[in-house]
Order: sequence, then structure tokens, then C-alpha cells
Amino acid sequence: MLKAPIKENEEERLKALKDYNVLDTPPDIDLDEITLIASYICKTPIALISLIDTNRQWFKSKQGLSAEETPREVSFCGHAIYQDDIFIIENALNDDRFKDNPLVINKPNVTFYAGSPLITPSGHKIGTLCVIDSKPSKLDEQQKLILKALSNQVIKLFELRKQNQKIIDNQKAFIHNSKMISLGEMASGVAHEINNPLMIINGKIQLLSESFSENEEINKTEIINDLNIILNASNRIAKVVKSLRHFSKNSEYEKKEKVSFLKILEDTLLLCEEKIKKKGIEIKYDHSYRMNDMFINCKPTLFSQAILNLIMNAYESLEKSDKKIIEIKIKNEAKYVKISILDSGPGIPSEIQDKIMEPFFTTKEVGASSGLGLSTSKGIIEEHNGKFYLDKNSKNTCFVIELPH
Ligand SMILES: Nc1ncnc2c1ncn2[C@@H]1O[C@H](COP(=O)(O)OP(=O)(O)O)[C@@H](O)[C@H]1O
Ligand SMILES: [Mg+2]
Repeated sequence: MLKAPIKENEEERLKALKDYNVLDTPPDIDLDEITLIASYICKTPIALISLIDTNRQWFKSKQGLSAEETPREVSFCGHAIYQDDIFIIENALNDDRFKDNPLVINKPNVTFYAGSPLITPSGHKIGTLCVIDSKPSKLDEQQKLILKALSNQVIKLFELRKQNQKIIDNQKAFIHNSKMISLGEMASGVAHEINNPLMIINGKIQLLSESFSENEEINKTEIINDLNIILNASNRIAKVVKSLRHFSKNSEYEKKEKVSFLKILEDTLLLCEEKIKKKGIEIKYDHSYRMNDMFINCKPTLFSQAILNLIMNAYESLEKSDKKIIEIKIKNEAKYVKISILDSGPGIPSEIQDKIMEPFFTTKEVGASSGLGLSTSKGIIEEHNGKFYLDKNSKNTCFVIELPH
């Protein structure tokens, strides 16, 4: 038996194969359809997509065969990858190179073999699309042409999958980069969140120190009351700092968990509530959400980033409005949780509604805003397999998140 050879360029060839990340992955319906067509067109019971790894051939798709892989040295495909055209053995029993091959002598009793190499755009042959029969056979010109065309389609699918993965990876990197940009935009706002409780602490300490120095009659209950106010204010600062720390953490590897939506909302509001209230804006949400067991399945920090972007947009839209309300609603539907963020602002003109989700689209002053808020939120929600859209039927601006349970 002639063993399948290993020739020069093997290292690069293997790298080209591994770049597709396809070895030992589950079956793929599109590739299975290609082997199905190949077996039908070539009239053979077996059709395979065989990938030639270091020491084995592994079958990404298979018709008419149950084996997952075989050693490389006995493989026919291991020969086919060194051909430029289809490699055909019409009758292995008459071929000195193959007649004593274990795949010929034993099951599946390969007798007829035709393999069209899978050639990557860089010219590496990573495997074959092959058809096999246990009796001798032939391919006519048309069958050869189709087998070759199908093997080209296999590589095209591999390429598409690879590009897709790249886009997904880039999108993830993009979300995390733009998260840092929004964080920067937010940092100045957070000063308010800390300043307000700080002023309370200052004021109370000043009053206390005055009453001590003026030797007034000291009322114990009043002092305890004031100390409690100071404690609450300092706790609030601690919470804001904690929340800010949380936000700036790299959430790329954050895990999904079941968390109360109210907890997420309150943690998010910690970073913007003072600023919002200072502008006379009322924030409405139902405090019974916690009671109602409104739990959502999400990456908490990442998800609250999406919510924060929407709340900040609502806040910015209310600048010139007389009625200033931001409302956050949550509703449990059969398949998903629906979260709506509404504001009483001027709404979004219909001619820009289809553009607002594009990265860098902004109607705000140049340099004032990145135009990344909505696209980041959309990316985050899609990372959670959810849907994010503008409710065009709503009277006011209403953004909707649908998050699967
Ligand atoms: N709640 C809202 N009310 C009115 N317009 C909005 C609202 N949210 C978003 N927009 C519009 O969508 C655009 C894009 O929003 P976004 O992606 O957050 O970027 P940015 O806020 O930096 O402009 C905004 O410039 C604004 O025109
Ligand atoms: Mg924004």
C-alpha cells in the first residue's frame, strides 16, 4: 500500500486549515446539503467533506458513512490534496497503490473514489469533497464539473463563516471600545452625583460644629438625626464610586446571570440621577418591579451600559421641553421581557429615524457627542440575543428592548 504522503508546505497548509476553526465542530446543514447533492449527482452511496489534519482525515460532513475520522496514512484524500484536479480511482482493486489499503479490504470497502481538492484562496489544499462507492464506477465530464463546482462552494462557505466570525469579533471589540467612550462622556456628569451628597455632608458638619462651639444646649436626638443624614450621604458616595468602578471594568468576559431589573436600573441611576433631577426631570418607574420578581437574564454591567445610554439620550432630549418626564417600563411577555424607555421630549423626526442606530450618527453639536450611544446599546442587546428598536407608533420617543428569558 502506498501511504498518503506529507509534502513541503505542510505547516502552512495546516495553519490554513486551522484558521477556519472547523475541525471537531458539529454538523453544518449547508455543508450536509452539498455532500447530499454530490452523492446524488455522482450516483455514489458515500459523499464526504474530508479535512486532512496532522495525522488524520476528519469528516466535516458525511453521507452514507458513520466513521468520524480515519488515520491520514490510509486516506485516499491524503493523496487527492496533492493533485490540482479531481483525483479518481475507478477500481481500487486493480490499483497497486490501493488494493491492500485497509479501507479497501475492510468496510467501507472503498473501490471507486473521486476527490476534488478544497483549495483555499491562498492556494492551500486543506481536504477534499469526495464521493465513494464499494463497486467500480466512473464520472463523466459533467459530473466532474459539478463535483469541482461543489468543492469550490465548500471553500466559499468556509470563507464566509470565517469572515462572519471576524465581523462578530470586531463588533464585540467595537462595543467595548465605545463603552469606554460613553464612560468618558459620563465622567463629567458623575461629578453631580458625588457633589450633591458631599454638599449635604459639608453643610451638616458645619452646622454641628457651630452648635458645638456656641455651646448651645445640645439635643441628642437632633445630633443622631444629623449624623444619620451624613452617613446616608457618604454611603451614597460610596455606592456611586462602586458603580463607576463596576462600569469601567472590562465586561468582555462578564457572565450572564439572573438579576432583578430594578437592581440594574437603580445601579444605573446612581450614575445620573442627581444630574437628571437637577434639570427638573422626573424619573418614573414602578418600584414594585422587585416585588414582582422582574428578573432578567443578562450581563449586568454591560446591560446597564445600554440602559444608561438610553436614559442619557432621553435626558438630553428634554433640554427644551416644558414637560420633563423619563419613564421606564418593564413587562413580562411569554417569550421575552419587554423594557421600554420613554421620554416626553420632542421625538425623533421621521426622516432620521432609520439612521439613528448607525454608529457616529448624531444631531448634537460636533464634538459634544460621539453618536455611539444607540449603536452601542443595539450591539449590547444583540449580544444578549435580544431585539432593540424605536417604537414608531408611540406618541413620544420610546425605545424598546426585548430580552429573551
Ligand atoms: N430620546 C431621544 N429623543 C430624541 N432624539 C433622540 C433620542 N435618542 C436618540 N436620539 C437621536 O438619535 C441620535 C443618535 O443617538 P446616539 O447614538 O445616542 O448618539 P448621540 O447621543 O451621541 O448623538 C441623537 O443625536 C438624536 O438625534
Ligand atoms: Mg447618546
